[in-house]
Amino acid sequence: MSANQVVECPSEEDTFQLGKRVGRSLLVKTFIAVNGELGMGKTVLCRGIVAGIGLHPDIVSSPTFTIVNEYPGSPGVLHFDFYRVNKSIELFQIGWDEYLERPEVILVEWAEKFESILPEKRIDVSINEKGDNRTIIIQNLN
Ligand SMILES: Nc1ncnc2c1ncn2[C@@H]1O[C@H](COP(=O)(O)OP(=O)(O)OP(=O)(O)O)[C@@H](O)[C@H]1O
Ligand SMILES: [Mg+2]
Repeated sequence: MSANQVVECPSEEDTFQLGKRVGRSLLVKTFIAVNGELGMGKTVLCRGIVAGIGLHPDIVSSPTFTIVNEYPGSPGVLHFDFYRVNKSIELFQIGWDEYLERPEVILVEWAEKFESILPEKRIDVSINEKGDNRTIIIQNLN
């Protein structure tokens, strides 16, 4: 896949398949920021990425009460959701810096809430609604 992509994803399956392509294309440990309003399909996309990495997509659920879900594998995945995080200090209290050092692929829903704590080297995904359609913009994919 090339560096920047704009992809029309009219159905949930399209979003899942796009995630799968992203997951398959990852060659090194990667940080992926996933943005978009409520119900845009961030978790669907994350499920696709996890499948593309080679893990079972059914293990993916929104980390509602935990901030982060861990999916073991090689590589494994750390799946964050910042939706219920009020201040970035809460992330540092659970060890944000240590998480960033870990070998897993990191996926973060609602990442833009705390943009200043994200690593500069990352893939940015944003899911936007256009009528009944979704347009997904992926930046910095290698
Ligand atoms: N083109 C599409 N891509 C993804 N999901 C879609 C699409 N069209 C409809 N949907 C539906 O939208 C919902 C997306 O839910 P999902 O949990 O992935 O959103 P989310 O962005 O993670 O929400 P939240 O902000 O609550 O975390 C699903 O119910 C899915 O079936
Ligand atoms: Mg979600």
